[in-house]
Amino acid sequence: MCGIVAYVGHREAYPVILKGLKRLEYRGYDSAGIALNDSKLSVYKKQGKVARLEESLVGVELKATIGIGHTRWATHGEPSDRNAHPHLSASGRLAMIHNGIIENYASLKLELEKKGYAFKSDTDTEVLLNFIDDILIRNQCSLEEAVRIALKRVVGAYVIVLMDEEDPSTLIAARKGSPLVIGVGENEHFLASDASPIIEYTKQVVYVNDYELAIIKGNELILKNLGNEIVTPFVQQLDLELAAIEKGGYDHFMLKEIFEQPKTIFDCLRGRLDIANQDIIMSGVQHYMEELKTANRIIIIACGTSWHAGLVAEYIIEELCRIPVEVEYASEFRYRNPIVNKGDVLFAISQSGETADTLVAIERAKEQGAIIFGILNVVGSSIARISHAGAYTHAGPEIGVASTKAFTAQLVVLAMIALKIAKEKKSISNARFMHLMHELNAVPEKVKEILASTEKIKAVASKHAAASSFLFLGRGYNFPIALEGALKLKEISYIHAEGYPAAEMKHGPIALVDENLPVLFVATKDAYHEKVVSNMQEINARKGKLIAVVTAGDHSVLSLTGDLIEVPEADEVIAPILNVVPLQLLSYYIGVERGLDVDRPRNLAKSVTVE
Ligand code: AGP
Ligand code: GLU
Repeated sequence: MCGIVAYVGHREAYPVILKGLKRLEYRGYDSAGIALNDSKLSVYKKQGKVARLEESLVGVELKATIGIGHTRWATHGEPSDRNAHPHLSASGRLAMIHNGIIENYASLKLELEKKGYAFKSDTDTEVLLNFIDDILIRNQCSLEEAVRIALKRVVGAYVIVLMDEEDPSTLIAARKGSPLVIGVGENEHFLASDASPIIEYTKQVVYVNDYELAIIKGNELILKNLGNEIVTPFVQQLDLELAAIEKGGYDHFMLKEIFEQPKTIFDCLRGRLDIANQDIIMSGVQHYMEELKTANRIIIIACGTSWHAGLVAEYIIEELCRIPVEVEYASEFRYRNPIVNKGDVLFAISQSGETADTLVAIERAKEQGAIIFGILNVVGSSIARISHAGAYTHAGPEIGVASTKAFTAQLVVLAMIALKIAKEKKSISNARFMHLMHELNAVPEKVKEILASTEKIKAVASKHAAASSFLFLGRGYNFPIALEGALKLKEISYIHAEGYPAAEMKHGPIALVDENLPVLFVATKDAYHEKVVSNMQEINARKGKLIAVVTAGDHSVLSLTGDLIEVPEADEVIAPILNVVPLQLLSYYIGVERGLDVDRPRNLAKSVTVE
């Protein structure tokens, strides 16, 4: 989380950086700041969103063709003006922005305080900046060299970009564990956390790798490693369009991305689902097919919504491929001493490809010999770089903090991987394989059907928008969807919500049920349907306010509730992709009804790149 933007070239830097920060604000918005260098460093920063910084600069002379900008998601020091980035070094010579976390900042700070340094902020960033400043001044070396020496002492994750008042034509940047993209223009360079601030100026980009340091002027980009060896920049062509990162007429990115799902699911299937040849084409899967077919176990590592996708995958893979699967929270896996055997395959599921806990969990598993397979949405992301193979979800940039289109794309990719393995293992009949291929192929149209009739979902949202708590229940493939529905509601509407296996209610949670509690069942036609209906009757007997997502035309629970949200029929293996869509819309409409910022919910960031 947090966004960094920097510019050096022939344009006025301020407007470029300000617009870029607005595009990155979904990544974190505790504060925003910009520094400019016209042979004198000027720093402007404010707590709150970018608009507040912009307002404070109306009428201020902002002439410079080099600058750095930052939107913050605080890790050290509460959101405030003084903790906002950019920070100035004690000497006043350097300005720096930072995305990430310096884990050994306390020991570095102590060293500096013994040398007489005082700090203006509570951030780890200012400590690193003054550590660099101290080396620069004591060693009388270049800023590039001072950064290289300093970073060898740093433990943690960073992207840093610095300006030196004594060299107003150069930016110095470095990264480890947080993302950095450099846009290569005509006598100008752009730096950002992702491509969205760059795309309108150039499609030529360089993804900086861990432990690389960039020395950037308007007309020159030099990459080096921390050993001071030149690294040849690999310039790639971006295939993003500017429109893809605009709202496209929707009130919110979240709504746009929900309604993009027929297309993003189609894009995810395109070129892979080969009905005519009765096959699934996934080069990454094919390359590791032997390892996948013979895997003793598949470990799935993820966080949040991506973890829910992993749970769905567990049901699918175990049923179709007969391979044991365990789904792990990355943040738990990385801290315990997990048993990972050579021959285990690890699926890392991540929309951003930058989630710190997932990154480190992967490193742990990789050290123990696991094959790492990334199911990711961001091309060139950090997790993509450390995976042995993978499959991109091709959902396009997901700007809304709540993951929607990336989630359904993850489910589609995971279903295709399971089908491919099952076909190769012959663990399912060809008839079942082809049936599920056709079921997948039909998903975009079925999602379109759901999106074409949202009146009932809006009505249910309006009826329950004032609730203080919600229960989401499901069984089998629908249990992870109940969890996802609860997470969506929590993060978008701030209503407490819990997802539960429907059968688990009788082991305690049913005590929560009374006439004030909305209880939503994901109750589509499947092997568990009769049991789910019984669970609904148990809730009804205790006056719970029932809501149900049901298969179109199924009126078996009409006597229990009129709040029925219908979805097209689908095989239970594929149904989760459809059944989550009404829950995404429900949380969206409730959040809007409650007057909340559904694209940038409080306390959250789009990608959690710190632990
Ligand atoms: C999902 O709506 C949340 N924003 C959050 O749980 C997210 O899924 C989680 O942080 C994992 O992010 P990733 O997929 O980018 O790794
Ligand atoms: N750790 C730094 C801070 O708390 C940077 C956080 C971020 O990535 O925004 O200021």
